[in-house]
Amino acid sequence: MSAVPEPARLFFALWPSEHLQGKLAAWAKQAAGRGRVMWRENLHLTLVFLGSVDAALVSDLLALAARVRFDPVRLPLDRTGYWSHNSIIWCGASEDPPALTALVGDLRARLDAAGMSYDHQPFVSHVTLVRNAAGLPEVPHWMPLVWEAADFTLVSATRAGGRVTYQILQRFPARAN
Ligand code: 2AM
Repeated sequence: MSAVPEPARLFFALWPSEHLQGKLAAWAKQAAGRGRVMWRENLHLTLVFLGSVDAALVSDLLALAARVRFDPVRLPLDRTGYWSHNSIIWCGASEDPPALTALVGDLRARLDAAGMSYDHQPFVSHVTLVRNAAGLPEVPHWMPLVWEAADFTLVSATRAGGRVTYQILQRFPARAN
C-alpha cells in the first residue's frame, strides 16, 4: 500500500532556476558532512509560510497574490552559515534588498487584511541547503552568487514515503521595468 500523503502545506517562495539550484546543490554536497543535503529541485527561499490552508481559500490566496506589484529581486547570495537551533546549513544575503523586504511586507499586509493566517516569525531570508547538520565542517570556498528573481511562487508541500515534494501551484511575475 502506498503511503498516504499528509495534507498539503502552502508557502510563498522565490524559486531559483535549475541552473542556480544546481550550483547551490553542488556546494551543499561538499559542505554537508553527515547532514542531509536537500534535493536540488527542492531548493528555494520561503517568503511567507502559510501551513495548511482550507481548499476553499486557495482561490482567494491566488487572487490576493496576483494583486501584488513588486520589482524584480536582485539577491546576492554572499553568505553561508549554520544554525544550531535547527541544525541547518543555509545560504543567503548579508543584507536583504529593498525589493525583497517590500515583497514580503506586501504579502503579509494583504494576508492580514484578508484575515488569513501565516507564520508571523520575523522574516529571515535563507535557502536551506542541508538539514541535520552538525556544523559547517571544513567549509569549501563559497563563490558568491547573484539571484535575479523575476517572479514569486505559491508552493504546495506534501510528504509521502518520507520524502517532501514541492509543487509550484502558480507563478506571479514582477512588474515590468
Ligand atoms: P526552513 O527551510 O528554514 O525549514 C517549507 O517547509 C518551507 O517553509 C521551508 O523553506 C521552511 O523553512 C519554511 N518555513 C517557514 N516557517 C515554517 C514553519 N513554521 N514550519 C515549516 N516550514 C516553515
